[in-house]
Parts: sequence; structure tokens; C-alpha cells
Amino acid sequence: MAAAGSAVGLGNIWGFPTQTASNGGAAFLVAYLILAFCLAYPALMAELTIGRHGQANAVTSLRAISNTKSQKQFAFIVGFGGIICAGLILSFYAIVAGWMISATLEPIATLAGNQPITSWLSEQSLSRNLIFTTGFIILTVAIISRGVENGIEKWSKRLMPALLSILFALIIYVMMQDGAMTGLKAYLVPDFSSILNPELLVNALGQAFFSLSLGTSVMIIYGSYISKKENLVSLGAYVTLIDVFIAFVAGLLIIPAMYVAQAQGVEIFSSQGELLSEDTLVFQVLPALFDGMGTIGLFVGFAFFALMSIAALTSSISMLEAPVSYAVERFTLDRIKATWLIGAIITIVSSTIVIYFDTLFGFVITLTTKFGQPLLGLMCCLFVGWIWYRNSLLEEIKQGCPGVANSVFWKIWPWYIKFICPLAIALVFINSIFG
Ligand code: PFF
Repeated sequence: MAAAGSAVGLGNIWGFPTQTASNGGAAFLVAYLILAFCLAYPALMAELTIGRHGQANAVTSLRAISNTKSQKQFAFIVGFGGIICAGLILSFYAIVAGWMISATLEPIATLAGNQPITSWLSEQSLSRNLIFTTGFIILTVAIISRGVENGIEKWSKRLMPALLSILFALIIYVMMQDGAMTGLKAYLVPDFSSILNPELLVNALGQAFFSLSLGTSVMIIYGSYISKKENLVSLGAYVTLIDVFIAFVAGLLIIPAMYVAQAQGVEIFSSQGELLSEDTLVFQVLPALFDGMGTIGLFVGFAFFALMSIAALTSSISMLEAPVSYAVERFTLDRIKATWLIGAIITIVSSTIVIYFDTLFGFVITLTTKFGQPLLGLMCCLFVGWIWYRNSLLEEIKQGCPGVANSVFWKIWPWYIKFICPLAIALVFINSIFG
């Protein structure tokens, strides 16, 4: 449940619908589904297995399956690269999570009739973004400094059903509004001619890896917390299914809601048909929807954004756990001190991104999610496929899944992870550079 909590977050409800809307709707959805199941799931299995075998942070776990000195150096680059990637992701993630928290508080200010605070909460400003970004990081630090096991599973377990219930209720409401059917068509009826567009494919791959928290060493660490009695194969499949399902359902709400908002006069597309404000799309479309519901919309808006803030928190704690567990195990640092120190560094990076938003925000997202995560994920596949001895790999997966040697999974996966995954990921990149 904690791994699912890491996977389900802003990537599903902010990242996926935004990417779908700016990459041609249904064609993006089809590419995303294929890449999530065919490339991201096998890569997730690689990371979880490395972690459970190593029983330690990413660097140590990758070193445990390395045999030569150069392999151990490669292990350091991949493990440490993932940790840096996780830290950088947290620094932009905290900004979006800050927007979620201010959107949660806004209905309360409206109900209290405090107009100046309501407009401060609803409009982008340096002061608001700095305060809520820092607040969110402090919250993440406070949870992580007490250890991951305490409470995360409890939160994650309650979160998923609550999130799905509110999403479904909102979908039913949206479907009854003018414009919804046009949106539904844009989301579900693909224009197959654009599916092989190099830009679309590289975006869909990045989104799939981002959504499953891959290439960041996070799933290696969470793998190390999984008991040897658990069946890794089905556990990985559940995490993927839950994650993809929630993203799909979020799209079912947000894409039609965009067209409903447009029918109500909110400007969504430019005169050339391009999306106007990609990153803040969700924060335009949803409040417009809640406004249309009257007073009850205030309660719905509060509940929705509060759940989103919790979903963001179960993901951000996994990101912070990456550098913290490394620092604690490698330098035998005190957990609380290490967490506050790393939290302070991330706050500085985050604040710099807030201040130079136009230059840095998109840049850090592209660097980490489009390049860092898929490439580091690819390296983990190379570790499992080429460096780890096949017998020892089988021994690891057999624990908790004794019949795996005769399963379809074992007949396909080791070859798949050795040849197909690295080749396919590399092809997407080559295609996007030369395509
Ligand atoms: N998977 C998270 C989401 O979809 O919101 C984001 C994420 C978490 C990315 C942890 C990377 C990571 F290490």
C-alpha cells in the first residue's frame, strides 16, 4: 500500500490529464497505456526485486548484485543518480502540492467571508507559493523523520477508496453538463495517425515512469521494506493497475471538465487551438466546475483538494526517503538530523524554482521526468538483465512466489528486461532526437 501511495499522486491527477490535453487526447492515452504496462511494469519489477534482495538503500542494493569493480562504480552512478533525481522531483512537486494546499484552504476562506485571503489563496503570487511550498516540505520532513513505516500504510489504505469515490461522483456530475460529450470523445476516440509522433511517445514514456515513481531509487527502497513472504510479481502488478486506473479515471473527469468549462466561457485553448496554461490547467478547470455547483461546491472543492494534498504527501515522503535512507545508512547519521538537513537543501532548491519559475520549473520537470527517470530505469533493467546472475534472481523472486519458475512471468520477463525494455526505451529516445 505504501508503494501504491508513492505511485498515486499529482502525477495521476495533475500530470496525466495535463499531458493528455497537450498531446492530442486519446492518442496519448493509448500510447500511455501501452508503455505503462509493457515498459514501466517490467521496470518496476526490476527495481522492487533489486531492493528486496539488497535489503538496503539503492546504492548498496545495486552494489550487492554487482560482481566487478566497474559494475560497482556503475551501481553507484545509477543509485546516486536516482537519489538526486528524487530530490529534484521533490523540489518541483512541492510547488504543485503547495497549489493543492492553497486550493484546499480557499473554500474555507470563502465560507468565512474573508475576501482578501480568498483572493490571495486563489491567485498565483511569490509570497503564496513560497509559503505553501515550504509548508509542504516541512510536513514531508516531519513525517519522514519519524520513519516510513509509521502511518503511511494507514493513510494510503484510506486514501485510494476516498479518492476514487470523489472522482466517480464528480465524473457523474460533469457528464450531465454541456460540452462534456465533446470532451469524452477527445479523451476516448484516438486519432491513430498521431500515436507514433516522437514527441508524444517520449512524453508518454516519461509520464509512465513518473507515475510509477521509477528511476528514482524510490521503488528500490520500498522493495527493501517488503517482506520475503510477499509475492513480488502480483504486488508489482497491483501497484501498476491501481496507478494506471486512477490516472485513467482522473482523465475521465478532467478532460470532459475542460470542455464543460470552455462551454461556460473559461478560456482553455488559444485561437490556434493550443492549450493556454498547461501547468495550471487543473487549477482553472476544477474550481470553475465547483463554482457552478453553488455553496455545495465549496465543500466538494475542499474535500477534493484535501485528498489531493494527502495523495501528494504519500508520494513526497517516498521521494524524501530516497536521500534520507542513503544518508542514514551510508554515513550513519541520526535520522532526524539527516531528514531536516536534506529537507533544508530541498527547500532552497524549491524556493529558487519558485523565484525563477518561468526559466526553471519546466526545465527541471523535463530534465527529471522526461530524461532522468526513463534512462535510470533503463539502467536498472540492464542490472537485472545483464549483471545479476539468473539463478540468484530466480531465488529472490521465488520467495513468496514458490511456483514462479514455471510461470509465464518467468518465461518472458528475464529476456524481456534484458533485450526488449532497454531497446524500446532507447528507441523512444533516438526517435525523439532524430524524429
Ligand atoms: N508517482 C508520483 C505521482 O504520480 O505523483 C510521483 C513520484 C513519486 C515521482 C516518487 C518520483 C518518485 F520518486
